[in-house]
Amino acid sequence: MNGTTEIRRVGDRDARAAVLAGLGGYLPPRVVTNAELCETLDTSDEWIRSRIGVSCRHVADGEATVDLAVRAGRCALSAAAAHTVDAVLLVTTSADRLCPAGAPEVASRLGLGPIAAFDIASGCSGFVYGLAAATSLLSCRLVDSVLLIASDVFTTMVDPSDRLSAVIFGDGAGAVVLSAGHPDQAGALAAFDLGSDGTNADLLHVPGGGSRDRKQAGGYSGRSAPYLQMDGRRVFTLAVDGMCRSVGHVLAQVGWTVPDVDAVVAHQANQRILTAVGASLGLDGARVLSNIGQVGNTAAASIPLLMAQAAAAGTLRAGQRVVLTSFGAGLAWGSAALVWPDVRAVVEQF
Ligand code: UT7
Repeated sequence: MNGTTEIRRVGDRDARAAVLAGLGGYLPPRVVTNAELCETLDTSDEWIRSRIGVSCRHVADGEATVDLAVRAGRCALSAAAAHTVDAVLLVTTSADRLCPAGAPEVASRLGLGPIAAFDIASGCSGFVYGLAAATSLLSCRLVDSVLLIASDVFTTMVDPSDRLSAVIFGDGAGAVVLSAGHPDQAGALAAFDLGSDGTNADLLHVPGGGSRDRKQAGGYSGRSAPYLQMDGRRVFTLAVDGMCRSVGHVLAQVGWTVPDVDAVVAHQANQRILTAVGASLGLDGARVLSNIGQVGNTAAASIPLLMAQAAAAGTLRAGQRVVLTSFGAGLAWGSAALVWPDVRAVVEQF
């Protein structure tokens, strides 16, 4: 694998950090059970539960990525009691349209005015990359507050007849409001580890629908399927190794040991991956949080959605040492650490 990039805390007195000020989440109302998938796919409830740990997932019906993002963003703004922010960052790999970016529409629909707004795409690691981007904007004083939303309607990216991927994914959105604060205060994003390995881009990719198709002789060919293709077994192994290594880098930066960690919020790709990460790190299972059983893999949304649900349920509490970690398409991975603040979460779910 390639090396990783560590973003270190700035040591000076005037340093600014991104501080978690509110969380939001949104799950679309339609719930698809394993039994419903078994009506059209050669699969079983037992296989899906035992191999992935999923019982059901929420699927957007008539709503697209920006629609979910607006709902989650509104929840986060309400949780933070914020009426305005200086920038909206939308993290997604299932954009409504190839062009333009969705963030400006999200900002407009939330009534936030003509503020800075742009999209970030980094597969399932996009939210951690978004946190790093927001931290950069805040710490260099370009903005004083950011609404960071991760939204994916990933069920539109899978071939409904592909039993391997169709059973994994669900739709959802999670959001955080980040405001400028001091690096030492609770809620400050204290350290990051980011990395990528483009040599393995084909392990998890959507071949059709992009400029490669458009470059075919005679213009857009549409010859490649616009659906996810995945070497699940290889990604599984790389994900466990990659997240454990990345968590280790973040812990070294903040000076915590594994027993210091109260909770890990990892990308929810597979319950067996979460269990393996916990075992490899030496963390008991209860400290590796999980919601995959009820929501499936919600791609970039999975970490902020779980953060919001866990905060709303009181599972994440002020003063706890929390590590976020992700691994996915790119390949790209990222981790971050923070001491959980006294913060509200609003989750709209059915
Ligand atoms: O979020 C982005 C990052 N993504 C990931 O991290 C995904 C990582 N990979 C995984 O989570 C797992 O590899 C999968 C869930 C994708 C697949 O689980 P697996 O245990 O690795 O299954 P497999 O691909 O090794 O397939 C095992 C068997 C195969 O049958 P044979 O060849 O042994 O007879 C498959 O054909 O399971 C079969 N199979 C199914 N059986 C029933 C595959 N999908 C299904 C299915 N129902 N839905």
